[in-house]
Amino acid sequence: MLISEGLAEALLPTPPADADNMMDANKKSPGLKVVILAAGLGTRMKSDRAKVLHELAGKPLIAHVIDGAIKLSPEKIFVVVGHQGDVVREACIKRFGADLFEFVPQHEQLGTGHAVNCVREHLENDDATVLVLSGDVPMIGQETLSSLLSTHDSYRSACTILSVVLPDPSGYGRIVRDYDAGFVGIVEQKDADEKQLQIEEINTGIYCFDSKKLFGSLARIGNSNAQGEYYLTDVPAIMVSDGDKVAVNICSDPAEVEGVNDRNQLAALERKLREKVNSFHMNAGVTIIDPANTYIGTDAVIGRDTILHPNVFIEGDSNIGTGCVIRSGSRIKDSVVGSGVEVLDGCVITDSNIGDNCRLGPMAHLRNGARMGDGSKVGNFVELKNTVLGKGAKASHLTYLGDAEVGDNANIGAGTVTCNYDGVKKNKTVIGRDVRIGSDTMLIAPVTIGDGAVTGAGSVVTSDVPAGALVYGVPARIKEDS
Ligand code: UD1
Ligand code: CA
Repeated sequence: MLISEGLAEALLPTPPADADNMMDANKKSPGLKVVILAAGLGTRMKSDRAKVLHELAGKPLIAHVIDGAIKLSPEKIFVVVGHQGDVVREACIKRFGADLFEFVPQHEQLGTGHAVNCVREHLENDDATVLVLSGDVPMIGQETLSSLLSTHDSYRSACTILSVVLPDPSGYGRIVRDYDAGFVGIVEQKDADEKQLQIEEINTGIYCFDSKKLFGSLARIGNSNAQGEYYLTDVPAIMVSDGDKVAVNICSDPAEVEGVNDRNQLAALERKLREKVNSFHMNAGVTIIDPANTYIGTDAVIGRDTILHPNVFIEGDSNIGTGCVIRSGSRIKDSVVGSGVEVLDGCVITDSNIGDNCRLGPMAHLRNGARMGDGSKVGNFVELKNTVLGKGAKASHLTYLGDAEVGDNANIGAGTVTCNYDGVKKNKTVIGRDVRIGSDTMLIAPVTIGDGAVTGAGSVVTSDVPAGALVYGVPARIKEDS
C-alpha cells in the first residue's frame, strides 16, 4: 500500500495510558450527534433528482446512511439539506419518523465545510461528539463507525478521520502524512500536486469531531482552492497546527466507504451490495440460482430452502417464508409471503400478504393490501387489489378482484370481474364460502353472493344473491328451483 510517506505501523499515536473510556462496540455513545451532508445536487449524476435520493438496492442513498447512523443510537441526526431539501426531508421522515431528526437548510452549496457550519447554532456550545457522514457514502457499516468512535474516544482526539487505501484513489481527497507517518492534512484531488496524487490513502468523508473544536476551526477555513469552496477537509490541518490531536482510522473494507458521484459508481456499488446481500442469504440457506441476476433489498427476510430463480426482485420490507419457489421475472415488494408458496413466472406482488402453501401466477398481480389465505390460488392474468381471498379459494384464470372478500374454498371462474368502480367511488363485493362463480361473471358492486351460491357463465350480477341460490343471465336472476 502506498500512503503518503513513512510506516504503516506508525499511523496512529499510542493511546493515553489512562484511556479508560474505550467504547463498547454496541453501547450508546453518550452525547453523540450525527451530521449527514446531503445538500449537494450531485452535478456528476446529471440528474434532476437530488443525489441522495437516487436508489441503491431499491432504497435511497440517504436511507442507507441513516440506517447505519441509527444503529449507533445517536441523540440527534442533523441532515443538511439544500437541493430538493423538502423532498429529501419528506423521504427521511416517511421512512424513519421525525423524532430523531433536525433538518438544517444550506441555501447555497458552498462546500462541505460550509455545510457543516450550517449546524453551528445547534452544536457549537455542546460537548458532543459529532460524527459527520456523507449522504452519498451509503454502504458504511455499524462496526466501522463504532470502531471510528472508539478510536476517537480512546485517543481523545479533536478529530478522527476514517480513511481507506484504494488502488485507484482518483477523485478522492488524499491523506497527507509526514515522514513519521504523522497526519499533516487532507488535499483534494483538484488541489493535489503530482506527488500527492500518487497517495493511495484517501479521505472517506466520514469523521468524528469534538464539537467545540470543530466549530472553532471551521470559522477559520477559507475558499481559496481549485473549486472555490469551503472544504471541511481543511479543518483537520488547522487542528494539527493548533497542537490538537488528529487521528486517522483506516477502514479495512473499501466497498463500505465508496462514494456515489456518478451513475457508474452507483452501478458498481449496486453490484457490490448485491453480492454481499445475496451471499448473506445463501449462507442462511436460501438457494439463489443466479446471484448476479437476483435483486434483494437490504431489509428483506427470506426463509431457508426457498429457491430464487434468475431475475427475481425482492424489495422493501418483504418477508418470505421457508421452502418457497419464486420463479423468474417476479417482483415482491413490501409483502409477506408464507412458507411453501410457489410464485410462478412474471408475478408482481406489492403491499400484500400471502399465506402458506399458496400458488400464484404465472403473471399474477397482487397489490394494495391483497391477502391470500392458506392454500389459496391465483392463476395466470389474475389481479387482486385490496381483496381477501379465503383459505383454499381459487381464481385460476383472467380475473380481476378489487375491493372484494372471497370466502374459504370459493372458486372464481375464468374471466370474472368485480366491477368495483361506479365512476365516483369504489364499492365492495362479498363472496361467501364455497361459492362457485361461473366463467365471465360480472359482479356489479356493491354486491354480496351468499355462501354456497352459484352464478352461471356470463351472468351480470346486479343485486345480492342469497346463500345456496343459482343465478344466471343478464341481469342475473335466481333460478327458481335452485
Ligand atoms: C468529499 C471530500 C473528499 C472525500 C470524498 C469522499 C471535501 C471537500 N471533500 O469530496 O476529501 O475523499 O468526499 O467521498 O469534503 N455537500 C453539501 N453541501 C455542499 C457540498 C457538499 O451538503 O455545499 C454534501 C453532498 O451532498 C455530499 C457530501 O456533502 O453528500 C460530499 O460532497 P461531494 O461534493 O460529493 O464531495 P466529494 O467531491 O465527493
Ligand atoms: Ca462525493
